[in-house]
Amino acid sequence: MKETTKTALRASAVLAVALGLCVTVLTAADAKNPIKDAMAKYHKAPKGTDPACKKAGAGQCSKEELAGMVAAYKAMCAAKPPQGDQKKWVQLCTDLVNATAALEKGEDGASDKYKKAVNCKACHDEFKPAAKK
Ligand code: HEC
Repeated sequence: MKETTKTALRASAVLAVALGLCVTVLTAADAKNPIKDAMAKYHKAPKGTDPACKKAGAGQCSKEELAGMVAAYKAMCAAKPPQGDQKKWVQLCTDLVNATAALEKGEDGASDKYKKAVNCKACHDEFKPAAKK
């Protein structure tokens, strides 16, 4: 094989790997899980700080935070949970959206409504797969 051909081959191999990497990164971003996103962003917080869901129930969330939560919960409604009944899933997520929207509007009783809707265990029991061993 001529030296130039070898160089060309090597260059295209490098290009192929680079392209492959790009595609992988893109698909990973596409396959983002709106449920995990909502959990990580609003139901979890670094040690020593309160997660948004706790602050929301206590009426301590900013309007911006609440708006973000409504959007995240809506995305959850549209997503498919890893397991469980889709109809019931949409119902639970809709409750969350409505309760958070009520908090955003400052409605009476919104706090209790939200605390009821954000019941971690009730939802996880049916829709979150048990931890893999
Ligand atoms: C309306 C349903 C629902 C409610 C309410 C809910 N979760 Fe989840 N949560 C899920 C589902 C479904 C998953 C699994 C997502 C997956 O594996 O794709 C999950 C996963 C998680 C995870 C793991 C995320 C990850 O990256 O694997 C954490 C942490 C979590 N939830 C925290 C909470 C906490 C804390 C609360 C209560 C304040 C809560 N969740 C309330 C549905 C819910």
